Amino acid sequence: MKNGRRSVAIASDHAGVEMKRHLLQAMEGWGYAVEDLGPRTADSVDYPDYAEAVALRVSGGQADVGVLVCGTGIGMSIAANKFSGVRAALLYDDFAAKYARLHNDANVAVFGARTMTEEAATARLGIFLAESFEKGRHERRVKKIVRIEKRLGQQA
Ligand code: RB5
Repeated sequence: MKNGRRSVAIASDHAGVEMKRHLLQAMEGWGYAVEDLGPRTADSVDYPDYAEAVALRVSGGQADVGVLVCGTGIGMSIAANKFSGVRAALLYDDFAAKYARLHNDANVAVFGARTMTEEAATARLGIFLAESFEKGRHERRVKKIVRIEKRLGQQA
């Protein structure tokens, strides 16, 4: 939270830079405190660097939610999910956007700029941000993910 507003960290690679701009504007309009972690131009970059920047903010608690955009959303999802406490979900439709929050307590929304329109991504982000974790039986399952992370962390 920043000044009573939910905080969001957003980043993309070169393929997602335009969609990032669009999503950032939408979230500012909805009242979120959004930190843009880049890039600023469409020059070629490597998506893991930007996934790491957002994932560290979410993992460390400096951001409540993360948003990532690359060409397909797949590279960003793979990279962000390496970080402890990060549950990144590729929001390929509205149903996934809703249930990623309700059932998986996802905290990073991922989009593919080459696989979906800006309008569809914006609508899915709105759904994602509006929903909350349902807990109940789903909490037991998410806790099992946390336990896996702890075990793997001890092995590393
Ligand atoms: C970049 O060309 C592309 O590989 C990247 O945006 C993404 O789709 C990776 O998953």
